[in-house]
Amino acid sequence: MALHRDVEAFDERAAGYEGGWLGKLHRDIADRVADLALTSSPTPQRILDIGCGTDYLLRQLAARAHDAIELLGIDAAPAMIDVARANAGDPRLAFSVGVAEQLPCADAMFDLVVSTTSFDHWRDQQAGLRECARVMTPGAYLVLADQFSTWLLPTLVGKRRDKARTEGRATRLIAAAGLNVLQWHDLKAVTIRAVTATK
Ligand SMILES: C[S@@+](CC[C@H](N)C(=O)[O-])C[C@H]1O[C@@H](n2cnc3c(N)ncnc32)[C@H](O)[C@@H]1O
Repeated sequence: MALHRDVEAFDERAAGYEGGWLGKLHRDIADRVADLALTSSPTPQRILDIGCGTDYLLRQLAARAHDAIELLGIDAAPAMIDVARANAGDPRLAFSVGVAEQLPCADAMFDLVVSTTSFDHWRDQQAGLRECARVMTPGAYLVLADQFSTWLLPTLVGKRRDKARTEGRATRLIAAAGLNVLQWHDLKAVTIRAVTATK
């Protein structure tokens, strides 16, 4: 099956993804998300990272979440999953090619779901959030990080017009998926933010 245009671009960048200034930016964001995730959910057992890329965030979580039994990374780009598998080095880490909109996971599996700078690329953000809710256990936490700001309103034109790039839009989609929004957090610069939600 042909890859979505955004995903194809990530597939091509997978080998060098963690390098350069952009790689450092993504690592900085992931470090903040790891702190936030483990503050919200200090002893997670099963962790899912949606749009995990090369698995940097999951590796940080694996090093700190000693009680975790399984940490699963899902990404739509096969080359990202290849790099993630090569980087893994922890038997609790597992990876699978898949999309947020149709997660290859059973219901109520995870007590912590994270996603960093992937949400904006999901074809159907509402469907992806419904899938998050489906795979979360009751009381589980979601930490969703991306660009969310009213400064981005001018970018909501053409094919991007329906994207949830503001706090208001994203809050509505998360609530419609059946999750309770807890708090918004500033992560980096003025636009990179994260929302915590629970089931
Ligand atoms: C900017 S990268 C972020 C990777 C990693 N989370 C990080 O913070 O470095 C976005 C990732 O989302 C993935 N992606 C895009 N659309 C997706 C979808 N619908 N479902 C799952 N992954 C998706 C891309 O393939 C890419 O690896």
